[in-house]
Amino acid sequence: MKILERGDIDSISFGGHDGLATTVAGYQNYMITDHNVLAQNNRTAKRPWTDTKIKGEFFDKILKKVSPKTYVDFGSNLGYYVFRAAQLSIPAVGIDYNLEYISICQAIKARHSYEQANFKNTNLETWCSEDDSYDFMTVFNVIHHLYNRTEQYQDMERLVGDFASKAKNILFEVPTENDSKGHKWTMDTSYSEQLFVESANKFFDSVECIPGQTAHRPYYLCLNNKVYN
Ligand SMILES: C[S@@+](CC[C@H](N)C(=O)[O-])C[C@H]1O[C@@H](n2cnc3c(N)ncnc32)[C@H](O)[C@@H]1O
Repeated sequence: MKILERGDIDSISFGGHDGLATTVAGYQNYMITDHNVLAQNNRTAKRPWTDTKIKGEFFDKILKKVSPKTYVDFGSNLGYYVFRAAQLSIPAVGIDYNLEYISICQAIKARHSYEQANFKNTNLETWCSEDDSYDFMTVFNVIHHLYNRTEQYQDMERLVGDFASKAKNILFEVPTENDSKGHKWTMDTSYSEQLFVESANKFFDSVECIPGQTAHRPYYLCLNNKVYN
């Protein structure tokens, strides 16, 4: 698998033999102990679009609403959502194509004994050939990368269909074509929010738009009554 860039990682501070808390700083920011996972604010203005604390509060609300038996986070990055779900006793899996992120998450899991948290180094196309499936998945800030960057779907219906084959219910964060960062990767393609909504309606029983942290990154909560397992 080709790695396109170094992970967005500032520091992981384990604190030596006596360290009770590990502090994670980078794209995601949080503190983790043997019993608690605490989302933190971004430390620099470098990353104004993803504040783990704000997104973490939103995640907790959605988790309560969906109340899943199993959870998977696609594009799991530094593992915040996976560890948080595991802390709440939900068996959780993180998927990321970047081995740097996966290795760090595995080290944190080993140190703090989060048995319910697991991590897989793969991408969507490869993962789709495996037969695991989940009750609930989050796809935060990554769908546009699969459309035309880290993978080359360039076909919204196939992309959403592949996600839908892995989880019954999915929360997508969908950068619109007006999102300047997302647009960088999708500008020469047919990618659009409308196309996403049309595709999602083909695979899910209900598709609810929820305002995101910015006007151009709404969430879509896609729910299914179908039983996959
Ligand atoms: C912009 S970051 C978002 C991280 C996280 N989902 C969040 O919102 O906090 C995108 C993440 O998706 C991962 N990623 C990008 N393309 C991927 C792919 N094709 N398969 C698996 N992971 C991918 C990256 O390594 C990175 O961790």
